[in-house]
Amino acid sequence: MMKRIRLAPSILAADFARLGEQINEVERFGAEYLHVDVMDGHFVPNISIGPPVISSVRRVTELTIDAHLMLEYPLRFIHDFIRAGADIINIHAETGDPGAAIKAIKAGGKKAGLTIKPGTPAEAVYPFIEELDLVLVMSVEPGFGGQELIPECLNKARILADYIEKHGIDTDLEMDGGIYLKNVREVIQAGVNVIVAGSAIFGNPEPGAAVSAFMDIFKSYGIN
Ligand code: DX5
Ligand code: ZN
Repeated sequence: MMKRIRLAPSILAADFARLGEQINEVERFGAEYLHVDVMDGHFVPNISIGPPVISSVRRVTELTIDAHLMLEYPLRFIHDFIRAGADIINIHAETGDPGAAIKAIKAGGKKAGLTIKPGTPAEAVYPFIEELDLVLVMSVEPGFGGQELIPECLNKARILADYIEKHGIDTDLEMDGGIYLKNVREVIQAGVNVIVAGSAIFGNPEPGAAVSAFMDIFKSYGIN
């Protein structure tokens, strides 16, 4: 059974000087989530933004804030992200103690996501899957926007989608990296229902028009 398909524009590709305006635009055109990439320069070779930006964003939008923590020590910062107003907190399976971080997220009343890098097998998620609200499959090496989707990650999404269906688990399946209008159908066909897109939306001079084009594709599946 297919789930409602949701779009999660990634602000990594936004113009940070016009962030509020750009967020309002994607919200107006039908995006439901807002994907926020948090990088520590250690877990990934890049630095981005953190809780203060999420607090500011929280004040200007009703969108579900989907925080993607690319942090070596996520557990240390879970409370900061809860306080800042994140709705979904995604941590990486490749970090020290994902189980403890998931517990802290759930104890704070937020939705927990577990993320796997392209080289991490689907099985890494299974021990935690019953507690998760979302599984995030990276389709590029985390750290930078504007990369090409790695096709093997679609097979991994399919494996996870089948596992979720077979075990009757109530979790979303999200994919992040290299998703554009030209390949989003393949991502949906792999069983993904939350679509992250950075360059495809904020790399477009008209982010709202880009969101509309994604929404038209989503509607063609007859679920939304
Ligand atoms: C990469 C980030 C992605 C990034 C996606 O580490 O996790 O969320 O913003 O950007 P695009 O859509 O440009 O690949
Ligand atoms: Zn991300």
